[in-house]
Amino acid sequence: MLRVSQLSCGYGNVIAVNELSFTVRAGEIFGLIGANGAGKSATILALAGLIDVIGGQVELEGQDITHLPTHQRVNAGIALVPEGRRVFADLSVIENLIVGATRMDRQCLDAGCERVFTTFPRLAERRNQLAGLLSGGEQQMLAIARALMAEPSVLLIDELSLGLMPIVVDECYRVLEALRIEQLAIVLVEQSTERIQQVANQISVLETGRVVWQGTGEQAARDSSIVEAYLGLK
Ligand SMILES: Nc1ncnc2c1ncn2[C@@H]1O[C@H](COP(=O)(O)OP(=O)(O)OP(=O)(O)O)[C@@H](O)[C@H]1O
Ligand SMILES: [Mg+2]
Repeated sequence: MLRVSQLSCGYGNVIAVNELSFTVRAGEIFGLIGANGAGKSATILALAGLIDVIGGQVELEGQDITHLPTHQRVNAGIALVPEGRRVFADLSVIENLIVGATRMDRQCLDAGCERVFTTFPRLAERRNQLAGLLSGGEQQMLAIARALMAEPSVLLIDELSLGLMPIVVDECYRVLEALRIEQLAIVLVEQSTERIQQVANQISVLETGRVVWQGTGEQAARDSSIVEAYLGLK
C-alpha cells in the first residue's frame, strides 16, 4: 500500500533523514522510533507533503506521490495526526471534525461525525465543548478523529503517547488496534519501544536520520537492551 524507498528529507539545508525504506500494507502498523532529533517528525512531515523530499520515492498503491502537494495526498488517502495534536483550541469538538472532513459532502458530515463518535464516545459527550478545554488524552483522541474524517487509507501518527498518562495511552492503543482491524495502514512514531512493540508489524529505529535497527515488534521486545541503547535509554 504505502511504499517508501530510500527516502531522504529535511529542512532547508539540514538533512534530517537519510535513505529510509519501509512498506506498510492495509491492516498493518509500521513503527518508527528514535530519540529527540532522530528524524521521526521529518519522516512524517515528508510523507504528508509538508517538507521537501530530497531523494527517494514514496508510492501509494503503486502511484508515485513523492512530490504531490499535501491536499492531493489527503485526497489520495493519507491523513496526519501531528506531533502535539494541534487541535484548533478555539473551535468546538464538532467544528474540529468538520475541518478534517475535506473529502466529505455536506450531506455526509453528520453521519461522518456520528461514525467517529462511535469510536470515541468521550468526544460525543463533549461535542460542543471548545477543543482547548479538553484534557490531553481527549485532544489526542480528537486529533485522531479529525484525521479519520478525511476517510484515509493511511494514517500517519506522530507521538501517540507523548505526555499522556498510562491509562490514556492504553485507550489510544485500543483505538489503534481497532483501526488496524478496519484495514487502515498506520505509520506510528514513538520515542520508546515500550508500547509500540506490542502492536507493530515492523519497527525501525532511527538515530540521527539513519536506521540503526529494524525488526518485528517481537524482535524488538527480545532485543530490548540493544534497542534501548540506540535510544540512549541505557
Ligand atoms: N524547522 C526546522 N528547521 C531546521 N532544522 C530542523 C527543524 N525542525 C527539526 N530540525 C532538525 O532536524 C532533525 C530531525 O528533527 P525531527 O523533528 O524530525 O526529530 P524527531 O525525531 O521528531 O524529534 P522529537 O522526538 O524531538 O520530536 C534535528 O536535527 C532537528 O534539529
Ligand atoms: Mg518529533
